[in-house]
Amino acid sequence: MNHVIVTSGLCRTFHVGESDVHAIDHIDLTVERGEFVAVMGPSGSGKTTLMNILGCLDRADAGEYRLLDQIVSDMDDDRLSALRNRYIGFVFQSFHLLPRMSALDNVLVPIRYADSWAAEGRNRGPELLERLGIADRAHHRPNQLSGGQRQRVAIARALVSNPPLLLADEPTGNLDSATGGTIMQLISELNREGQTILMVTHDEDVASHARRVIHMRDGKVDRDARRH
Ligand SMILES: Nc1ncnc2c1ncn2[C@@H]1O[C@H](COP(=O)(O)OP(=O)(O)OP(=O)(O)O)[C@@H](O)[C@H]1O
Ligand SMILES: [Mg+2]
Repeated sequence: MNHVIVTSGLCRTFHVGESDVHAIDHIDLTVERGEFVAVMGPSGSGKTTLMNILGCLDRADAGEYRLLDQIVSDMDDDRLSALRNRYIGFVFQSFHLLPRMSALDNVLVPIRYADSWAAEGRNRGPELLERLGIADRAHHRPNQLSGGQRQRVAIARALVSNPPLLLADEPTGNLDSATGGTIMQLISELNREGQTILMVTHDEDVASHARRVIHMRDGKVDRDARRH
């Protein structure tokens, strides 16, 4: 099973007042296991809409989406959220950490009620913080951390359930360029270890870490380029 994502004719239309906005418009996209894909394109071109559908946070209204050989487009909400919890890690521009919890507790949120908790989950949080270089911040709250440290916590949280797919929407968007650079090195390293990653970015330098760059325009894939 080498296809992580396969979409065909994927569409999402928003109805606003009298008009229809074709946010994504017949997207055919295949992402193989181990790929690192950057999604670029002007504001309003449909990048976040696409990520939300691929991340099972939203649903297409036409076309088919297969995630790891399962047809997502037909699933009800319960199955959709089960799939999301099991298969997808998210990293957002604004971190989305819970302010009253420590870094470690934030990392453990996705597996707090999962079966894996008793088995390996409890060890995995500290291991990931160590791996991301913030073990000494485990008991700090988000407001006691720098932006780069917050994003490391968010990446650890995204990885704690060992998801086959990591989705990132502007992961360096709120960071200065030096901190963004270290976060991109980390993300690239995860990909070299086999993690499949799809990342939205406006920044050419950030996109240059990816091995494939997709450009969107008006809800369509305009260009799809692979490096070496
Ligand atoms: N919930 C919604 N209701 C109505 N229209 C929406 C909604 N979400 C997105 N849109 C419209 O769909 C189009 C695509 O939006 P989307 O957020 O996917 O763009 P984007 O490429 O992520 O832009 P940006 O780079 O600014 O984040 C836009 O025209 C937007 O106005
Ligand atoms: Mg967006």
